[in-house]
Amino acid sequence: MNSTHPASTLSDSTASATPAGYFRVPVSSLRVDAVANFELYIQPRPDAVPVLYRARDLAFTEEARQRLIDHSVGALFVPTGQRAEYRHYVEKNLTAIVSDEDIPVEERSDLLYDSAQNIVHDILEDPRSGDVLPPSENLVQGTIDFLFKEGRSFHCLMQVTSYDYYTYTHSVNVFVFSTALAQKLGIEGQELFEFGQGALLHDVGKSLVPNEVVNAKGGLTEEQWAEMKLHPVHGYNILKEQGVESEIILDVTRHHHEKLNGRGYPDGLAGDAVSKWARICTIADIFDALTTRRSYKEAMNSFPGLQFMREHMEDEIDPEFFRVFVGLMGSTAG
Ligand SMILES: [Fe+2]
Ligand SMILES: [Fe+2]
Repeated sequence: MNSTHPASTLSDSTASATPAGYFRVPVSSLRVDAVANFELYIQPRPDAVPVLYRARDLAFTEEARQRLIDHSVGALFVPTGQRAEYRHYVEKNLTAIVSDEDIPVEERSDLLYDSAQNIVHDILEDPRSGDVLPPSENLVQGTIDFLFKEGRSFHCLMQVTSYDYYTYTHSVNVFVFSTALAQKLGIEGQELFEFGQGALLHDVGKSLVPNEVVNAKGGLTEEQWAEMKLHPVHGYNILKEQGVESEIILDVTRHHHEKLNGRGYPDGLAGDAVSKWARICTIADIFDALTTRRSYKEAMNSFPGLQFMREHMEDEIDPEFFRVFVGLMGSTAG
């Protein structure tokens, strides 16, 4: 094939700026023998026009990967018009990518978080357009494996979580915090998997709340607040319509705003009526809301955020789960 560019003439392309019309992809995200249906370009010199390195639909070979590594080429470039193809490729290969010990944990965290944002963004755009669970399955399983196997994975994921609030970044953050907390509480296997999916989708109902309410730049009017409070039931209904049968996923989506004192919504559940799934997700949800930046408020740092929860939400959240959560967050400091 004449579609490959000899790497032997190449200098390190990681140091240069991304050329216009392309986006940068780490070589580590390219799987050996997985067919990539996007083009890969390489920059022969910093600031040079990228040259086609590998045509579409060619598998990336071990030999090619090794040649790039030998020449310290850390990144290649894909035309911006092929972003969707690259994203699908990463999503499909996510479990292999995140368990690849040759890739630094930091880089895997980046790829995982980035991919998670894209997946949730698409689901929230139009959750009724198709299956909501399958696109997230690789992501949820990959994240669980990553959290279990890598001692530093939670710390690294914490470093890349977004401090700017959008529903999709919030969903990914809550998913990461909830899954890590559930794991600390000894939950595993199929239950952890379903819970992870529930946490990722917990705010899917916000897709039915008008944008001006979800993105309001300050306090909500009474009517807007009433609309906002419908999102757990909207989410529950969307998932039911989509054929989701998991009691855990449905419970997390419907009940993540319940409070142990009975003053939450939509069902005003109290005490033991609030499941452990809802209790875990609620802690992650409140923590992320406090520690991210909105157009009308600055983000709190983790420690003041936890302190605020301890002082003001004592009768709303599960004290034992909260204690474990504080320990988990403390373990990532420094
Ligand atoms: Fe919510
Ligand atoms: Fe939320």
